[in-house]
Amino acid sequence: MQDSALLAKAMGAAANAYCPYSKFSVGAAVLWDDGSVSLGVNVENASYPLGVCAERNAITGGVVAGGKKITKIAVWAAVEGTVAPCGGCRQVIHEFSANDSVPVIMGGNTDVATTAIGQLLPDAFTPSDLEK
Ligand code: THU
Repeated sequence: MQDSALLAKAMGAAANAYCPYSKFSVGAAVLWDDGSVSLGVNVENASYPLGVCAERNAITGGVVAGGKKITKIAVWAAVEGTVAPCGGCRQVIHEFSANDSVPVIMGGNTDVATTAIGQLLPDAFTPSDLEK
């Protein structure tokens, strides 16, 4: 799947974001190595810390459907420039990425930028760190 097609899915999903507190809608789309696509939006809560980002909801849904490794992920928000995944989401994206080169496609109203997950999160904490 083309990056632009995956980003379009993320943008479409953003319309379903539940963000009455921040009013900042985010959509995410993950392409998995089995060819499946999972979508996510940010879902906030009156108990603010329970809100979950679009990227993590997309990954969770994909794992439920049997996804193992991320081939690429797109994230979109209605911003000038591009939206950047938060630090927590970078950690979760890294955990499920096939390798450090997995593209993170970041889009907004005016721009698109693509960066490898290994660049967004160098020296990641990984499952192998638990074995040290
Ligand atoms: N948010 C995401 O869903 N993904 C990001 O990459 C950045 C931030 C959400 C969390 C919260 O619901 C709202 O955007 C404002 O931070």
